[in-house]
Amino acid sequence: MKIAVFAGDGIGPEVTAEAVRVLKALGLPGLELIEGDVGGAAWRKRGHPLPPATLEIAHAADAILFGAVGDFECDNLERALRPEQAILGLRKELGLFANLRPATLFKGLEDLSSLRPEIAAQIDLLIIRELNGDVYFGDKGTKVLPDGRRQGWDMMSYAEDEVRRIAHVGFKAAQGRRGKLCSVDKANVLETSQLWRDVVIEVSAEYPDVELSHMYVDNAAMQLVKNPGQFDVIVTGNLFGDILSDQASMCVGSIGLLASAALAEGTKGLYEPIHGSAPDIAGQDKANPMATILSAAMLLRHSFGMEAPAQRIEAAVAKALADGIRGGDLGGTDGTRAIGDAVLARL
Ligand code: IPM
Ligand code: MG
Repeated sequence: MKIAVFAGDGIGPEVTAEAVRVLKALGLPGLELIEGDVGGAAWRKRGHPLPPATLEIAHAADAILFGAVGDFECDNLERALRPEQAILGLRKELGLFANLRPATLFKGLEDLSSLRPEIAAQIDLLIIRELNGDVYFGDKGTKVLPDGRRQGWDMMSYAEDEVRRIAHVGFKAAQGRRGKLCSVDKANVLETSQLWRDVVIEVSAEYPDVELSHMYVDNAAMQLVKNPGQFDVIVTGNLFGDILSDQASMCVGSIGLLASAALAEGTKGLYEPIHGSAPDIAGQDKANPMATILSAAMLLRHSFGMEAPAQRIEAAVAKALADGIRGGDLGGTDGTRAIGDAVLARL
């Protein structure tokens, strides 16, 4: 089990360290952890957010545990050298096209949701976000128009095969859950979205057991806070998925609890908390490592087919929360290390 550990910036190293302790505690046979530099940390050390040595480790590994990237001291660097390019580069370079972002309300956290408790209690959804295309990777630039005004552009596009493969991931995920798939787009305005919708409908013929619906992204944002219980699996493009998954995290109480998987064809995957590097609390033992610990559970499940230890980790986190363990993000005072200890004790 070759696992690359890319801790990155800000709180990344702290939260990743706790997830690594949990992985080691499981006594998995053949576990090998290989560290690599990413983000602003890598730029400082090696002059690039995703140096060749890191890419090499990533290619050789079976799975990657990723912390966070982002460093405001790097915000004025040219785009290619900014920390975010580490995660975008890994997604593209490794063909990690399918992003799974589950959002489920843990028992006892109903009052921490931004929604009314009885509405929050119903949340049990999975956002599947396409990660290799869309406006993220299209032609982009800035120029000065003939009349002297500055203009920026980013081209949005999806080819049908890109939509088809993520649609299959969505339908299969729905088959393994409550059988409902909602495809989110903006087909009333965007050509890219119209093609997206047409292709999803074509693919749906292969999944007669899945109930398919379509929703415009603005309405989806509204429904997510109005009646989130209606959603089972949501499949959507890169940009819409980025936005809706942050929104979903607040509906379940904290972004400090949401894990994610970015999967390629096959079993290779990158696993990361959906939160960022939170430089304001970095190095202070204040970050909640639960999202990263839960990402390690997803890693065992999706890259190694190890369902039992994955569930053990998830149960330990749920138990810690049920016992009242609370990071600052949940209104509590438990520190990063203490939360790691609490999860380990319950493992
Ligand atoms: C995420 C993040 C990234 C994204 C950033 C860090 C590039 O917001 O994983 O959701 O936009 O995909
Ligand atoms: Mg995001």
